[in-house]
Amino acid sequence: MTELTTARLCLRPFRAGDAPAVHAYAGDPEVVRYMDWGPNTVADTEQFVAEAMSPADGVHPFAVEHAGRLIGAVELRVTSRVHSRAEFGYVLARPAWGHGYAGEAAAAVLGFAFDRLALHRVAATCDPANTGSRRVLEKIGLRYEGHLRDYLHIRGEWRDRLLFAAVRCP
Ligand SMILES: CC(C)(COP(=O)(O)OP(=O)(O)OC[C@H]1O[C@@H](n2cnc3c(N)ncnc32)[C@H](O)[C@@H]1OP(=O)(O)O)[C@@H](O)C(=O)NCCC(=O)NCCS
Repeated sequence: MTELTTARLCLRPFRAGDAPAVHAYAGDPEVVRYMDWGPNTVADTEQFVAEAMSPADGVHPFAVEHAGRLIGAVELRVTSRVHSRAEFGYVLARPAWGHGYAGEAAAAVLGFAFDRLALHRVAATCDPANTGSRRVLEKIGLRYEGHLRDYLHIRGEWRDRLLFAAVRCP
């Protein structure tokens, strides 16, 4: 299982015992406001951690640690092997917002996708109102590609998404 390190963070596989720290953010309505899951019940979180510990082929979930504490997650998902492309998403606990951790973690996963998995294209989407997430994607070099209308049905409401992507440098 892969571990990635950055200046301030460690991205590691999920393990038994992570559920309480995951639940601290996954059960927080403000954290999951723009996500198509949550707020989690404890059972939802336990199921997530169990699945993340044995991910399906092409799914790469990383627990994000700062100073030995789990503060969030990034997941890279290969969506087509034929076309060598993947998508990723990230989430941080509220106390960890505003320190640049999401960009640091996402940049490491982007590097993993291109350098280790040799993928050609990596995409991510964010809610048009999620200014922080948009900034993270732009800061790590993803380019805005378009506005996806009614792309997700979240808690009874259709939501648009903004599409961003990076392609492998020749
Ligand atoms: C979105 C999220 C990942 C941002 O992570 P973060 O580590 O706090 O982001 P950063 O500290 O790197 O901030 C990134 C940029 O966005 C800006 N920003 C952050 N939150 C903002 C907000 N609410 N409004 C406006 N700008 C914001 C920061 O000022 C920073 O800009 P700068 O680099 O020009 O100074 C984090 O808030 C989060 O986990 N939210 C809940 C889950 C989520 O929405 N995930 C993304 C799904 S697409």
